[in-house]
Amino acid sequence: MEVEEPIKKRLEEKFKEVPKWAEDFPLDSKNDRNVSRRDFIRYLGLVSLGFFIGTFGVWVRSLFKRNELPKQAERLKIIDRDDLPVGGSYVFEVPGHKEQAILVRLNQNDYVAYGQKCTHLQCPVIWKRDEKIFFCPCHKGAFSGATGDVLYGPPERPLPKIKLEVISDGVYFVGMERGELT
Ligand code: FES
Repeated sequence: MEVEEPIKKRLEEKFKEVPKWAEDFPLDSKNDRNVSRRDFIRYLGLVSLGFFIGTFGVWVRSLFKRNELPKQAERLKIIDRDDLPVGGSYVFEVPGHKEQAILVRLNQNDYVAYGQKCTHLQCPVIWKRDEKIFFCPCHKGAFSGATGDVLYGPPERPLPKIKLEVISDGVYFVGMERGELT
């Protein structure tokens, strides 16, 4: 490509002759700066717009999702009553939530369920049948099996408690009694 006359003149003054790279890339660096600034501002505007649209999209999506949750998780059969022996536990998913939940059969007719994430730093708790506690192996925290309250360790809040309905054909999730699932 032909180097423009004013650029050619400047280059010749500086280098005695037009260098090969200037012939290959005949750009006027003086005007370049203006173009770059304009391009930069345009780019910045586009990126900001992209961020704004993205954030707005996530916000709108979360609104829809929030409205969906109660409907999806209104009533969910977790398990047949007799599929869970006394003292046993069963991890299940509640539609619309990332956090898993854990159901325990404390006695013949006594079932409890909680969110499985420890309220300290979110490790999943495990059911210790002999001690009747939910134990968090990450920092040795423990929660009562009967109430979900903190027994010892670093957690400060009880486990989110799930409202259950126990009828002849099974155990159902019907909502939250305390706290929220993530
Ligand atoms: S994450 Fe459970 S005790 Fe720290």
